[in-house]
Amino acid sequence: MKKVNVRLGAGYDILIGAGLLAQAGSCLRDIGLGGKAVVVTNPTVKRLYGDTFEKGLSAAGFQVSTSIVDDGEEHKSLETATRLYTELSDFRAERKTPLLAFGGGVIGDVAGFVAATYLRGIPLVQVPTTLLAQVDSSIGGKVAINYGQLKNKIGAFYQPKLVISDINLLKTLTPQEMSDGLAETIKYGIIQDRELFAYLGSHLSEVLACDEGALETIVYHAAKAKADVVAQDELDLGFRNILNFGHTIGHGVESASGFKTGHGRAVSIGMVAACEIAVRMGLFSRSELNRLENLLLRAGLPVRIPNLTVEQIMPLMRHDKKIARGKFKFILPKAIGDVFITDAVSPSLVEQVIIDLNEKT
Ligand code: NAD
Ligand code: GLY
Repeated sequence: MKKVNVRLGAGYDILIGAGLLAQAGSCLRDIGLGGKAVVVTNPTVKRLYGDTFEKGLSAAGFQVSTSIVDDGEEHKSLETATRLYTELSDFRAERKTPLLAFGGGVIGDVAGFVAATYLRGIPLVQVPTTLLAQVDSSIGGKVAINYGQLKNKIGAFYQPKLVISDINLLKTLTPQEMSDGLAETIKYGIIQDRELFAYLGSHLSEVLACDEGALETIVYHAAKAKADVVAQDELDLGFRNILNFGHTIGHGVESASGFKTGHGRAVSIGMVAACEIAVRMGLFSRSELNRLENLLLRAGLPVRIPNLTVEQIMPLMRHDKKIARGKFKFILPKAIGDVFITDAVSPSLVEQVIIDLNEKT
């Protein structure tokens, strides 16, 4: 087992290893939790792993109530939160009753939001079950629900007491869920950890075959990278923005495709586009960009923009009006493992890169 400490407030640990789910009860006891516990999960995760998790919790003396949230982004909603408040109240959950968010990023976000607000905050434990959730969404305390068409519009910063990442759970992900998570994992290699990037380059086939050692290594490195970033800027006021590497153009592609190009795939294209901009500005080497493209392709991710025009993409790209006065804010690489934030990219360069990266050109 590997451990990362997140240096925020009193600090909390991220435990990473194979077979941790069955030991979750004793991990919770180790940090002083006991009595009742509420598990929030979805039907898929419950069917696959619910028994193992609940048996371990009961064996450690927890009285468990399980709430189910249906699968899908549309359930990251105020309606779901309201129902969960009712179920917590019916179970007589108290200030010390931990809420265990057991699922992917959707469950982590909505259950985290409920933990942050019920009784002004009850202990939250993240038990992430997708690669994306293990390397990204379970760490750093962003919890949220969607509001109408507005994603993550209502939320809070609410750090968990513990994160338990059992890498064995990743073995049942679909290839697409795995590659979506790999897009964010590769992102951590570029923004923060050159060693992770090199490891992915030389061990990708083991990762894709769900070799336990390889999964533990990449989740550990990416979780450590995220923990280091959020510890420096918990409230996302500046430095934490580097986590948005690949998201500026990626967001435009995802939205312009009507979400047919999913988030991980859009980030993959967005990372290539950001690197291409950096190459053309003389900041980053073409051979490093070629290494990135090669890795993304091997991970089953796209590196070119699907049939979309620059006129469709640019209006939907992510602006930061407050900080960058309506300009595009880009996270650009200087080298693999070293990025910086800038608003000094000319719109004409952005436009040309989008045109040149189109699949059809
Ligand atoms: P998800 O939670 O929808 O899970 C993807 C699919 O995988 C679901 O169908 C789920 O049932 C299934 N699944 C989960 N675990 C499984 C397992 N072990 N085996 C088989 N199937 C499994 O999607 P996601 O990609 O994990 O998360 C996306 C969400 O995360 C979005 O809502 C996004 O906004 C949020 N997010 C939050 C943060 C943050 O910092 N809070 C960061 C990134 C993304
Ligand atoms: N996933 C973005 C963040 O945690 O800030």
